[in-house]
Amino acid sequence: MEKILIIGANGQLGTELSAALQTKYGQDAVIGSDIRKPQEENSIFELLDVLDNDALLKTVKKHKITQIYHLAAILSAKGEENPKMTWNINMNGLLNVLEVAHYEKLKKVYYPSSIAVFGTTTPSPAPQYTSMNPATIYGISKRAGEQWCEYYFNKYGVDVRSLRYPGLISYKTSPGGGTTDYAVDIFYKAVEGAKFSCFLEENTRLPMMYMPDAVRATMELMEAPKESLSTHEGYNLNAFDCTPKELYNELKKHVPNLEISYQIDKLRQSIADSWSDTVNDDVARKDWNWNHRYDMESTTKDMLLNLKKKFAVK
Ligand code: SER
Repeated sequence: MEKILIIGANGQLGTELSAALQTKYGQDAVIGSDIRKPQEENSIFELLDVLDNDALLKTVKKHKITQIYHLAAILSAKGEENPKMTWNINMNGLLNVLEVAHYEKLKKVYYPSSIAVFGTTTPSPAPQYTSMNPATIYGISKRAGEQWCEYYFNKYGVDVRSLRYPGLISYKTSPGGGTTDYAVDIFYKAVEGAKFSCFLEENTRLPMMYMPDAVRATMELMEAPKESLSTHEGYNLNAFDCTPKELYNELKKHVPNLEISYQIDKLRQSIADSWSDTVNDDVARKDWNWNHRYDMESTTKDMLLNLKKKFAVK
């Protein structure tokens, strides 16, 4: 029987992955953990700081953990406020997880990577194997983390798997401190009937993905036969790409009164400019049959539908 520890279970991805894993493996098979208690406790939960390796080991032993999803990290824009602290959390957290996975012989580890590993020397669309010169400490830590994952796989046989997520759009939990967050905020403003102020320029193109696709990609990668995987660094993952202007125009079809203005945040603009505007995910499509289901149009429709329901209930 699988026992899955989610580290960073309260975050944007953690909230939704926990629910999906509970549906698949059962409520008792998923142990959520984070540095703060969740607002609603929907699963077995442990307060855990991943930098505390004794506490991590105790939790793994206590629940007889077989798999870890290590999702805790500081995102791109927030990470620039304190690069050393970001490096410590993003990097040493992963190393603690890889060590415990190695010594406790865990079956699998999941590590999320990001389009932040790419840089200004990366061609567009970004290939799976390419030049990378990440401009943020978040990107540097994700790139180094990917390489640590490959190292633990090659050297110790730790079955660690990873995806390079595009910007994630979801209606359940908001992201915090990222550069792609505008693509979530704009939906909230549309549903609230408020004016949207965008911190990126109107023609800044970035890769994006709707959360149900991201969750499904993660589960499919984790269930894929080990023999079919050609890399244990992050797989490129693509769904659609858009600019703020394009997303705004799509939203306007449903919310004609929506207004937008642009107040550019220099830091987040420079981060976005350093990232690839689109990625090539042929290797994921070939190795484990990845296929996205949501494009910008269907993401927009579904986001609006679900956010309207969410606000109607409140
Ligand atoms: N969505 C993340 C960010 O904007 C990138 O992985 O920081």
